[in-house]
Amino acid sequence: MAVMAEILDLLRVLVLTIYYIVESWVLFFIPASMKKKNISGKLVLITGAGSGLGRLMANEFAKLGCNLVLWDVNEKGNEETAAEVEKYGTTVKAYKVDLSNREAVYEAAEKVKQEVGHVQILVNNAGIVTGKKLLESPDHMNVKTFEVNVFAHFWTCKAFLPKMIEADSGHIVNIASSAGLVGVNMLTDYCASKFACVGFDEALREELRDMGKLGVKTTVICPVFINTGMFDGVTMKQAWLCPLLEPDYVVEKIMEAVLTEQKFVVVPKTMYILHPLKSLLPLKASSLLIDWMGANRSMDEFKGRQKSE
Ligand SMILES: NC(=O)c1ccc[n+]([C@@H]2O[C@H](COP(=O)([O-])OP(=O)(O)OC[C@H]3O[C@@H](n4cnc5c(N)ncnc54)[C@H](O)[C@@H]3O)[C@@H](O)[C@H]2O)c1
Repeated sequence: MAVMAEILDLLRVLVLTIYYIVESWVLFFIPASMKKKNISGKLVLITGAGSGLGRLMANEFAKLGCNLVLWDVNEKGNEETAAEVEKYGTTVKAYKVDLSNREAVYEAAEKVKQEVGHVQILVNNAGIVTGKKLLESPDHMNVKTFEVNVFAHFWTCKAFLPKMIEADSGHIVNIASSAGLVGVNMLTDYCASKFACVGFDEALREELRDMGKLGVKTTVICPVFINTGMFDGVTMKQAWLCPLLEPDYVVEKIMEAVLTEQKFVVVPKTMYILHPLKSLLPLKASSLLIDWMGANRSMDEFKGRQKSE
């Protein structure tokens, strides 16, 4: 009897797997506009809102009628974003927060809860990059990269997730990177932190599913290099496959992912093919592919964001 039950269970898994594959293909061909949810009136917190993707996302969420909480260590940039989005007529509050400081994150989260309310969409977006070979990268930058790019997500989620779980409603958006899927020369701390970010998102998603809290959504975004200034100087040999992305395009994809509740998004779509190849090919073949793509030379001319920006 026990063997029969095992066989039936395996059959159930196989049938459902085929069903889910078909379902994902059907959903793939339904236009995103038909699946978008309404988030007007939701309270959205964006970290790293003082420039780049964070600022653009703030604009997009405000256009959709969301109220905003903006966090950044760059007070000036953050205030500029707040001023920019105020024109959409929604409530905006900017806070100076150093995400590398756990206590500062918890303190700011308490302030937000008292002064603004319950965050319904949390966008963990702030990020930093060292851009040096391991042996040339200072220890404090290795630590800080992890603090900002992944540990901060632990603290923000611990602060805002309980209310989402209580309401069985909410959305955690983690801005990771294709560097969280593939290791690249001169990016040891950055890649390791983004792999951790992808793992954090995946484990949290499973945790929420295990708890039956299906109303709390998660989305992780893995784009290749973007023209925001953070990675100034980078190059890609096969730009037709893996181009330097424009920030507006990436933000369009992020917003689409949030509004259609996609869980795992890579940008551009070619990465959906290149990324699984890494697991399927022998290591030597995948190294060959990395060399052909020029990935290990992409950081050779890296300058990064200049201090005066
Ligand atoms: N630019 C790219 O090529 C690229 C590619 C893939 C993923 N990403 C990711 O996208 C996210 C946004 O990057 P971006 O390109 O807009 O870069 P950006 O430098 O324009 O924005 C990052 C923001 O984070 C803020 N920040 C940095 N350290 C902080 C700290 N300690 N506390 C609070 N805020 C802090 C900065 O002030 C800045 O406003 C990052 O997580 C980045 O890793 C970027």
